[in-house]
Amino acid sequence: MIKPDGVQRGLVGRIVQRIEAKGLKIVAMKMRTLPQDVAREHYAEHSQKPFFGDLVSFITSGPSVPMVVEGKDAISEMRKMNGATNPTKAQPGTIRGDFGLDMGRNVIHGSDSPESAKREIALHFGEAELSSYTRIDEAWLY
Ligand code: PPS
Repeated sequence: MIKPDGVQRGLVGRIVQRIEAKGLKIVAMKMRTLPQDVAREHYAEHSQKPFFGDLVSFITSGPSVPMVVEGKDAISEMRKMNGATNPTKAQPGTIRGDFGLDMGRNVIHGSDSPESAKREIALHFGEAELSSYTRIDEAWLY
């Protein structure tokens, strides 16, 4: 999910381009301002952390772009592309390393396991919003 800072800084196209160029397949995407309850649910595992209030208020402050990304090792590949959570620690070449400087405003969120992906996808998309199609390069990629 591209966070409000990524949207407001006009980074959506460049981030989508990286995901597509990697060979991963975007099967759902939308722009939405997260309601408070969805934001709280999305980050429920961090509800006891001192930064939870700031995190929820930031993530609901403007539109985000949630996406569903499929492909070989999609979760770990996306997390590699996203880079370390703290952009000042993220390697150049990663999304956070190239586009971020602030721990809270770190441009993008990636699910950390199949279970959290399933839970997070359900918070943003209905079943009918997930598309099925073949990328023209799929046979070659895999
Ligand atoms: S922890 O405590 O290690 O589990 O937390 P961490 O994985 O570092 O961060 C969890 C998410 O909270 C965001 N975060 C913050 N947001 C706002 N302000 C502060 N200070 C802050 N610290 C951490 C962090 O970006 C993670 O969000 P995601 O969306 O997963 O990147």
